[in-house]
Amino acid sequence: MVFRMEPAKIKAVMPVAGLGTRFLPATKATPKEMLPVVDKPAIQYVVEEAVAAGIRDVLMIIGRNKNAIANHFDSVPELEEKLTQKGDDTKLGHVQRSSELADIHLLRQGEPKGLGHAVSRAQSHVGDTPFAVMLGDDLIDERNPLLPKMIEVNEQKQAMVIALMEVDPDQISLYGCASVEATDDPDVVKVLDLVEKPAKEDAPSNLAIIGRYLLTKEIFPVLEHTAPGKGNEIQLTDALKEVAADPENVDVYGVIFRGRRYDTGDKLDYIKAIVQLASDRDDLGPDLKPWLKDFAASI
Ligand code: UTP
Repeated sequence: MVFRMEPAKIKAVMPVAGLGTRFLPATKATPKEMLPVVDKPAIQYVVEEAVAAGIRDVLMIIGRNKNAIANHFDSVPELEEKLTQKGDDTKLGHVQRSSELADIHLLRQGEPKGLGHAVSRAQSHVGDTPFAVMLGDDLIDERNPLLPKMIEVNEQKQAMVIALMEVDPDQISLYGCASVEATDDPDVVKVLDLVEKPAKEDAPSNLAIIGRYLLTKEIFPVLEHTAPGKGNEIQLTDALKEVAADPENVDVYGVIFRGRRYDTGDKLDYIKAIVQLASDRDDLGPDLKPWLKDFAASI
């Protein structure tokens, strides 16, 4: 008789311990991932994306304002009871959904020493299994799933996978940028090098790193010796750059995302995200769109 072990399940790691300085004072006591996008905190969209890709185990790396996130994904019996008494099943469903979505684990980062440091804190939780790092201020439209393709490439190539998006060359200095080599699949590239926020004329491509990563355990020893970089923070991009450049280490591939993405980490993009998502909703779009047209005509 042959016994086959079930392959270990991919977990998600969501670093939510950043200081969110671009959103002060809103983020003084609230993590930026808890800011509402229409009527849900940004982080709930990201957890829903993980769940849609078959991930049930979510580790949040949290900072000093942990309570809001912990409470959002916990049940609130007194509120549920009130809504039950009132017979408001719709709101009850909304309240219960966030606490039933996934198994949420919380881990303190300690000091906010950068995204790379936050990811390194996940080591004992994820063990030897590949894991998805998902940033809470990057929203991927549920109609354009990205994670399943990244998981597929990780399995095929036994490699780390990052999500890339073509941006206007004038915008590349806002992002990490990838130098790449084509593969047989037009949506998949091999990553040769990464440059953090290059000037337009120094950028090796217009492919920007966006907030989804499928990493393997080989990232941890590299993160351990990655020195603080930009902003004096331990940068995940610096660690990935080292992995990509090392022929002895696993390969790094990129999946080029061509769908709808909303950046909620920046004030202007946050406003755009809310308008776009609300316009698409059946309960808000029909009233919002004609108002938007009138408003646009009046300014
Ligand atoms: P950002 O640099 O976008 O977030 O980090 P920030 O530092 O919170 O924002 P600003 O620039 O000051 O406004 C990318 C992601 O990494 C997390 C953040 O929460 C965000 O999701 N992060 C960053 C951590 O979890 N820990 C850190 O030490 C730094």
